[in-house]
Amino acid sequence: MTKGARPDSFPPGQFRDRFRLPHGPEGRDCLYFCGNSLGLQPIAAADAVAAELERWASLGVAGHFDGPLAWMTYHRLATDNLALLAGAQRLEVVAMNSLTVNLHLMMVSFFRPEGKRRRIVIERGAFPSDRHAVAAQLALHGGDLAHDLVELAPRRDGLLHEEDLEDYLERYGDSVALVLWPGVQYASGQVFDLARIARACARAGVTLGLDLAHAIGNIPLALHDWGVDFAVWCSYKYLNSGPGAVAGCFVHQRHAEFKGNRLSGWWGHDEKSRFKMAPEFKPAKGAEGWQLSNPPILALAPLWASLDLFAEADIHALRHASLELTGHLASAINTRLDEAIHIITPLEPHRRGCQLSLRVQAGRSAGRRLFERLEAHGVVADWREPDIIRVAPVPLYNRVEECDAFVDLVEKLL
Ligand SMILES: Cc1ncc(COP(=O)(O)O)c(C=O)c1O
Repeated sequence: MTKGARPDSFPPGQFRDRFRLPHGPEGRDCLYFCGNSLGLQPIAAADAVAAELERWASLGVAGHFDGPLAWMTYHRLATDNLALLAGAQRLEVVAMNSLTVNLHLMMVSFFRPEGKRRRIVIERGAFPSDRHAVAAQLALHGGDLAHDLVELAPRRDGLLHEEDLEDYLERYGDSVALVLWPGVQYASGQVFDLARIARACARAGVTLGLDLAHAIGNIPLALHDWGVDFAVWCSYKYLNSGPGAVAGCFVHQRHAEFKGNRLSGWWGHDEKSRFKMAPEFKPAKGAEGWQLSNPPILALAPLWASLDLFAEADIHALRHASLELTGHLASAINTRLDEAIHIITPLEPHRRGCQLSLRVQAGRSAGRRLFERLEAHGVVADWREPDIIRVAPVPLYNRVEECDAFVDLVEKLL
């Protein structure tokens, strides 16, 4: 497909030959359903890293200023595409750090307990790093975890309901300083109605931050229009930018000239005067003002190379292909394995992304046994305690036939 082409839709797996696929047993391709954890390596990523190693070797320090890949502004090679994926303006996004670091940076600025408004609301069963981070921020403000951390519980169906957050905010919103919510729940794969959540927060006057680790590159987002205050994400899952890849951050335009607390560093200083080396901090406008250090170029190279594929594919076309792919897997499981496997992920298209979370009906040890046997047969998925097998066919590189092959194998192994 030519660069820049924007198909309205394409069959799942259309971009497979742009990625390197690990081998399974006997040198065959594995069934790689683990893009929810670590996306595959785009071939262009290795070229981009090699190019920077070469520029470093041949240019030395001059690489900071040389040509369109100058390291001074290198992080911006990701900006346009991150803005597209986040549904943001360029000013609102930046590639930097890692997810949890960015979450702390955001909460230092946007968690501002005052008077009665002291609570943070998260989902029960949030990713542990998020819970550690909010607990640490509460402690920094002298908060009391038992009282100030509210963890909304899933209902009996195991899912979190937007309505429960709305109800909570309606009743107790004046005690809440921050809602931190996922775009896609990491264990169940449930996709949330983020526009609705943003409206509920706005009605209650509550700051909204999002953890988009499992959402970015998986579902289309419209962070600017929804009015989200801030969002953070990592880039090693659906963004395919490599283990520990440089993460991303969104700060809404209305905070572009933010004057409150922030942990600052020289790379967040206004670019025009940064090298005047004055002692006072003058923040750059927008999300870039939260940067701390000059960025790791060798780690940024795979990010922009990978994001270029998203620009080519278009996130809406990808979503179309993803609904087909994961829908196919869900219906094959429900038709052929219904007695044995329960899909935890809600199956309405607007409530699921790429990932399906599976529970083996016969219990945890049967589930674990199945998972290990699948692994031995070349399926790459992942296991989340206590008893969940997560499988995520990814429309850039997975094909419908692979979903059938997976179900064939499960049927055989059960
Ligand atoms: C939902 C969620 N939040 C946070 C994290 C932590 O990310 P990091 O290690 O990049 O800070 C992860 C990692 O997998 C995650 O899945």
